[in-house]
Amino acid sequence: MKLGGPARWLAEAASKDDAQELYKFATDKNIPFLIIGQGSNIVWRDEGFAGLIIVNKILGREVLSDDSSGVTIRVGAGENWDEVVGRAVDNGWSGIEFLSKIPGTAGAAPVQNIGAYGAELSETLVEVEAYDTQTDSFGSILNEACQFSYRNSRFKSKDKNRFMITGIILRLKKSLPEPPFYESLTKYFEEHGVTNYTPTSVREAVTAIRAVKLPDPSVVANNGSFFTNPFVNKEHFEKLKESYPDIKGWPTPEGKVKLAAGWLVEQAGFKGIHDQDTGMATWQDQALVLVNEHGRKTADLLAFKQKVVFKVDELFGVVLEQEPELLP
Ligand code: EPU
Repeated sequence: MKLGGPARWLAEAASKDDAQELYKFATDKNIPFLIIGQGSNIVWRDEGFAGLIIVNKILGREVLSDDSSGVTIRVGAGENWDEVVGRAVDNGWSGIEFLSKIPGTAGAAPVQNIGAYGAELSETLVEVEAYDTQTDSFGSILNEACQFSYRNSRFKSKDKNRFMITGIILRLKKSLPEPPFYESLTKYFEEHGVTNYTPTSVREAVTAIRAVKLPDPSVVANNGSFFTNPFVNKEHFEKLKESYPDIKGWPTPEGKVKLAAGWLVEQAGFKGIHDQDTGMATWQDQALVLVNEHGRKTADLLAFKQKVVFKVDELFGVVLEQEPELLP
């Protein structure tokens, strides 16, 4: 977002030993620390951070097993996520092609259980390898123990900053991706006459859709979706439908309804808005993406966010939750 104050110290961890050493440095000197990947899903506070930022740069790629149905691979936490996806697709391995072009590192992917176009990392992740600062040991956390849910895991909630993720293990398939696909993907395939569904054709489609809808963070300062899609109960949804017959909602197995935050923000009049007071904007093709045009302070971003949250709550009785992490 091109916002936030400076950190007192910053160091890169290129190996597991580095990670442990940096942790010990911080604890010995009683310095607070934070572990990050590429920072693409972080909003930094204006005050900065009077501690140590550890940038996870642990690389590595390995095929652990390979059989007729698929492969199991290990990826270093500091690897660029989209390069991991690209290599998997080039090998014809399926499972993460839907997660193409998501900014950030492989090690950050399980933290918020990245998801897009109908897939979530939790569907292919076997285990997370990490240094546990609580027990001062390296170990593995199996998928079932990661407490994955929509855009969440124990690494983002109850065990925030406890583990330094060193690698992830994924199980990818050799079979082809099968319909039904996510709505916008189906539409893309129809419009482009694609009937051959392969990891490559899915990656191409996702890449093209994202290029149209989402701003490139290396060009336009943004954190991707700024709000998570909210869940409401059925009664709330039915009531909203009476006033807004076009409202989008997807029932969940738990009996709730997931709403499209982008739709709510757009209906609240915030799509393609350029807010002069704060220098912030919402993206013209995806209202869920907040963009820093000429804001100088995180306070500006949070003030703009508040305007959006307030209006959406006023109209729909839904309080949107921020998706990128506010740190420290
Ligand atoms: N919509 C609108 N107006 C908008 C934006 C969306 O009406 O301005 C409607 C769309 O028409 C569609 C629905 O909302 O019916 C969902 O939109 P979209 O498919 O674009 O997905 P999303 O729910 O807005 C989520 C993820 C994205 C991911 C896409 C595609 C979250 C918070 N965001 O967005 O992830 O790329 O699905 O699967 O779950 C990210 O996390 O940074 C991110 C970009």
